[in-house]
Formats: sequence, C-alpha cells, structure tokens
Amino acid sequence: MTTEPLHHWEAKALLDGSIRPDVPPALAPSQLPDAIFLTGATGFLGAYLLEELLRNTTATVYCLVRADDEESGHARLRQRLNDFNLWHPSYGERIAPVLGDLAEPSFGLSTEEFERLAGLVQVIYHSGGWVTFIHPYEKLEATNVEGTREIIRLATHTRLKPIHYISSLAIYLSEAHPITKTLYESTRPEYHETLKGGYKLSKWVADRMMIHAQERGLPVAIYRPSRIAGHSQSGLTGDLKDPLNVFIKGCILIGMYPDSEVAIEPVPIDFVSRAVFHLAQQPASSGKAFNLYNPAPLAWKSLFETVRQMGYALEPVSKEEWFSAVNRAMLNKHPQREFLTLVRMLVSSPNNNFFYTRPPLDATHVMDGLRHSDITCPSVASLLPVYMAHYQSNGFIERP
Ligand SMILES: NC(=O)c1ccc[n+]([C@@H]2O[C@H](COP(=O)([O-])OP(=O)(O)OC[C@H]3O[C@@H](n4cnc5c(N)ncnc54)[C@H](OP(=O)(O)O)[C@@H]3O)[C@@H](O)[C@H]2O)c1
Repeated sequence: MTTEPLHHWEAKALLDGSIRPDVPPALAPSQLPDAIFLTGATGFLGAYLLEELLRNTTATVYCLVRADDEESGHARLRQRLNDFNLWHPSYGERIAPVLGDLAEPSFGLSTEEFERLAGLVQVIYHSGGWVTFIHPYEKLEATNVEGTREIIRLATHTRLKPIHYISSLAIYLSEAHPITKTLYESTRPEYHETLKGGYKLSKWVADRMMIHAQERGLPVAIYRPSRIAGHSQSGLTGDLKDPLNVFIKGCILIGMYPDSEVAIEPVPIDFVSRAVFHLAQQPASSGKAFNLYNPAPLAWKSLFETVRQMGYALEPVSKEEWFSAVNRAMLNKHPQREFLTLVRMLVSSPNNNFFYTRPPLDATHVMDGLRHSDITCPSVASLLPVYMAHYQSNGFIERP
C-alpha cells in the first residue's frame, strides 16, 4: 500500500474546482462568533476545546456527535466534560449536538440540514478523527480524509468560515524529511513510502488537503501537535491505554526499559487546547501552521532513570533485549500477559514513533502567537511525577 507512487496519495488530497473562497464571509472583521462548529468533542482534545470555547466565548457550540437522538448526543458530550472535571451547569444550553458522522457524505445530514448548518455556523474547529494504531489507511479514509473534505465543503458553502484543523506532527516522520533538516511550520509535509501506518498516512493526506485549501485562499489554520498527554496538573488522560501510558507501565511490569537516547516531546492536553484557542483568535493565524511540541523533551533513558528513582526496579537493556524480555514474560504466562500483548503490539506498530529520531523542530509561529499570553508548555521532566501520581492513584500502576 505505502509503496504506491506519490501521485496516488497526492491525488487523494486534491480539492475539486467548486471549492472556492469567493462567498461572503460568515464573520465581519472583529465580529465575535455566536455559532461555532466543533468536531470530535467526545474525544480527548475535543472535550478540552469544547470547554475552552464555552468558557471564553458566548457562542453556542454545535458539536458533531455520533448518537441516536439529540438527548443521548447531549448526554455523551456532558459525560465527556464530566470525565475531565470540565462540566459547568451553565454550559448545557450552549451545547447543540449535531447528529452525524464524519465518514458520511455531508456528515449523514440531509441536504436541508447541511445547508442550514452551513448558513448558521461562523467558525469551524475540526478535531474529530479516527485515532487508531491498528487499521490500514483504507479503513480510515472515509473518516479522516473524506470527513476533512466535507469540513472544507461546509466552510465554503453559503458563507466563508475559518477552519481550525487539528493535524499531527507525525505526518513528517518519513525519509522525506531527513533528520538533518529542521521542520519549520512552513515546511510542506512531503510523502515518502517510509511514512508508515494507515493513521499517519490518512493524516498526511488530510493535512495536504488543508494546505491546498490555504493555497486556494481559504482561511485555514493548521495545528500539528506531537503526542498529546495528560493534564499538567491532574495527569488526567483521554485513555489510560494510550501508547505512552501503556509503554511506561509495560516497562515497569517487566522491570526493564530500552536504553534509548531518543527524546520524546509530549504536550499536555491543557497546553494544546489553550494554545489552539488562543492562536485561533488571531487573524494572523489564518494561512499558517503551528508546531505544538514540548520544547523541553526528555530522552527515554532519562525518563526511566527518573521512574527508577521513584522506587521501581528497572534495568536498562537494548531494544532487542527488551522485546525478547516482553516475549519471554508472555511465554512464561506473566499474570499480566494480556496487557503485555498490548504493549508489544503498540510498540511494534508502524504507527508508533517511540524510537524515531525526529528532525529538529521549530515553533516560531507558536512562540509569536503565544508571546503575550501566560500559555507555556511544562517540561517533560516536570510532567512525569504528575503522570506517575495519576497512574498510581487510580491503580493503573502499583506503587513501588
Ligand atoms: N492524541 C494524540 O496524541 C494526538 C496527537 C496529534 C494529533 N492528534 C489529532 O488530534 C485530534 C483529536 O485526537 P484525540 O486524541 O482527541 O482523539 P480521540 O480521543 O480518539 O477523539 C476522537 C474524536 O473524533 C470522533 N470521531 C471519530 N470518528 C468519527 C466519525 N466517523 N464521525 C464523527 N466523529 C468521529 C470521536 O467520536 P466518538 O466518541 O463517537 O468515537 C471523538 O470525539 C485528531 O484529529 C488526532 O489525529 C492527536
């Protein structure tokens, strides 16, 4: 699949001629929106974005949600905000569920419903997507690629609306971008057959589509986070079984970690959501991209050395030895065999970048846009104790 020639993937990102910016703008300059469209609000980042929008604006937020009826759609959104301690009773009446599916043409809405939505909403935040390490591109295309095309169609239908699109830095992780060349926010993500995994590929095509939209004059801002991790104060994460959490627990279970110099730069969810909202308020963000990564990363070996100092028996070994130890533990019927199967699967998935040495990153646009704010990203070293305390308090990882 990934060995097909460039034009195959590039062609998927092309927009048809009907996508044009020459409809009247939905918002006059300096006008504040009273109707915002948000996708992915039942997800990790989407829930935090929803709360940012509710807390910092007076708009009604129309949330695309998969549900059978409005009541259960509303309940899903409320529950998700509750899960992250973000719910406030005053929010209820400003959340408007839009029952639909990114994978369907017009999100599965009738022509009248799609047109009504297009005439109503004034800004779009697109955070929805199928985030998975398992499935191939073909399975994700409808949601991650065609869903993004529908977002662009919505943005240009009736009135022109700014789009704030959540992409991913993972789209750069191929030999198209050698580790000697800095990834600037203006660096065009190029395709190379070493871009592994259906998820990354689907995000590459969708990102490229958004770049085409920018080039056509649409008001699009692209946000490219690195791995999104737990809240910087509470440690709360979207899914305890996300790859970072699973890997740390897996290493503790077998008492070994790969002695790797590769650094990781996860960004806490509160930094990402606040940064996206803040940058989205600035007209100068339109047409730009933003690299959201942790400016104070930590090498795996230093990370696990810190975990060791917290009292866990951990020994550094080579990557190969580490994989053999996981396999051995499974063969020896380790009591957490099922969990270790997940560890092995996640770490060896082509979608994972645990041991990928990235090119240097640049975040000039982010730094400029956040300069007059109090929004900063805490170092990985300072986040680790918060995350470990969270894992321990809910029993995900036993205390040493
Ligand atoms: N998490 C990361 O580390 C990371 C890093 C970089 C970029 N990103 C990007 O950030 C965005 C948000 O990620 P996340 O971590 O918040 O993901 P998430 O927790 O898995 O949430 C995904 C959201 O998308 C919705 N969704 C999925 N398929 C859909 C469909 N067919 N129709 C309508 N909605 C659908 C989900 O709805 P349901 O609740 O109905 O499933 C959910 O609300 C994604 O675009 C992702 O690619 C994430």
